[in-house]
Amino acid sequence: MRDLEDIETVGVVGAGTMGAGIAQVSAMAGYSVVMRDVETEYVQRGFDSIEDSLDRFVEKEELDEGEKLDVLERIQGTTELSELSDCDVVVEAAVENMDVKQDIFADLDEELPEDVVLATNTSTLSITTIASVTDRPEDVVGLHFMNPVPVMTGVEVVVGEKTDDDVVEFAHQFAEALDKETWESDDKPGFVTNRILMPWLNEGIRAFDEGVASKEDIDKGMKLGTNVPMGPLELADHIGLDICLDASETLHEELGDRYKPAYLLKRKVDAGDLGKKTGTGFYDYE
Ligand code: CAA
Repeated sequence: MRDLEDIETVGVVGAGTMGAGIAQVSAMAGYSVVMRDVETEYVQRGFDSIEDSLDRFVEKEELDEGEKLDVLERIQGTTELSELSDCDVVVEAAVENMDVKQDIFADLDEELPEDVVLATNTSTLSITTIASVTDRPEDVVGLHFMNPVPVMTGVEVVVGEKTDDDVVEFAHQFAEALDKETWESDDKPGFVTNRILMPWLNEGIRAFDEGVASKEDIDKGMKLGTNVPMGPLELADHIGLDICLDASETLHEELGDRYKPAYLLKRKVDAGDLGKKTGTGFYDYE
């Protein structure tokens, strides 16, 4: 199904930060949503983060309590991928691992009727490689949302080698229906955003490790000096240091040494200090 008017139900695979955010903005746009993760506990965590985010909109009087409940009621949680079989479009937002994504896409290809667009929120992996395990590579497209999804207005549409032009057009229209603005990238490692963002983050981490300035001054310098909302160390903590490392390693593998992850990034991930989500990264959040 490639016509925006025919879309009633959105499937989301993964109820982590990104999956929950995508489920939330889809429900806020009026769609019914089926949000699936592998464990009930992860699905519940997804609902908790959606509720926290909706509360912020209620506090600001951008939503009332009734609208908040309506949004929550439009989202059905499940641990069964087969429950996505009636969805009109699916966005996958599982972990950034090619084998995991290919397994999911092979299953989605079996479960979903022909012509249903299968989108992936991958931040660095190849759309073409993910699509290669399906019998519908022309219906597979990248829809790369930004974190936090309910706040960030941009979505990157990534065009695989076999993606049909009308699927690309559909991806733009669908993101716009979620109140997002889009831009388009070819299926090259890191696309536009992470190809440029990851070296910036790694350079910030190296500058800190090499004693150029304190972490606070590196972040302040970049914020005030270049008018970005977060400096590299606080943004890395916000994204999750494990996610930054995974993305950097993929880019390093595909594009060579200029993408080598910072040593301190690896050390922090090895220590289990992954940023805001674990309470400690470059900063403490407890
Ligand atoms: N849900 C709803 N509202 C939220 C929210 C959420 N999850 N998170 C923040 N907000 C709202 C707040 O309520 C607040 O609203 P008002 O200004 O209307 O009061 C506003 O956003 C700002 O939030 P805070 O005051 O808490 O904090 P802040 O001013 O530091 O903003 C931020 C937080 C929106 C995250 C901002 O710092 C920001 O835009 N940072 C950059 C984020 C970024 O670059 N994201 C992309 C990362 S790259 C990526 O995601 C791709 C990848 O593949 C890695």
